Amino acid sequence: MSTMKHFAAVAILCVAASLPVMAQEQKPENSQERSQDHYVPRLNTLMMVTQLGHFKLWYAGAVQNWPLADYELAQIRANIVDARKLHPDNSKSDMSSMTPPADDLEGAIKAKDSAKFVKAFSKLTAACNSCHEATGFGFIKIREPRLSPIETSPFSDESFSGK
Ligand code: HEC
Repeated sequence: MSTMKHFAAVAILCVAASLPVMAQEQKPENSQERSQDHYVPRLNTLMMVTQLGHFKLWYAGAVQNWPLADYELAQIRANIVDARKLHPDNSKSDMSSMTPPADDLEGAIKAKDSAKFVKAFSKLTAACNSCHEATGFGFIKIREPRLSPIETSPFSDESFSGK
């Protein structure tokens, strides 16, 4: 019986050591450092961040807050770089088709020109959708956000009904 108990204890220890999650739990002081070393946002996570940036850029432009629009555009550009850098082997991570519309947006922001901004923004949105279609994700339909008198939702820049 005591041999059985000993065997069970050894077996449990072996399982614990082979599970990284459990190993981390045993060393809580290291776990945060470790997960930061290894954390690579998935392409889908970068897309969700890009979606929020797309909305915030639009809102900043709509209220003519040009420094904020400039800032949000820089974040979107950084996502273009990150997607490629973090997922070099994924053929669906090349977001460079957004660079020409981003350049147009930069020009509009520098000129503080709302009409130009609106035009460039719809080009950017078209680039989102062309790439979704080209990569087999055409069911993800980005659009200009909808203004609502009640609340302008950050997710109003996506059509969930597919229309
Ligand atoms: C490389 C071309 C490409 C471009 C450009 C692109 N996307 Fe995507 N997008 C993808 C791919 C591929 C996926 C699916 C990722 C996955 O699930 O791995 C995706 C997924 C998404 C999703 C779904 C995320 C979720 O979990 O619901 C959203 C939202 C999204 N993209 C928003 C945008 C927006 C907004 C833009 C433009 C500002 C944009 N994308 C531009 C390729 C692109």
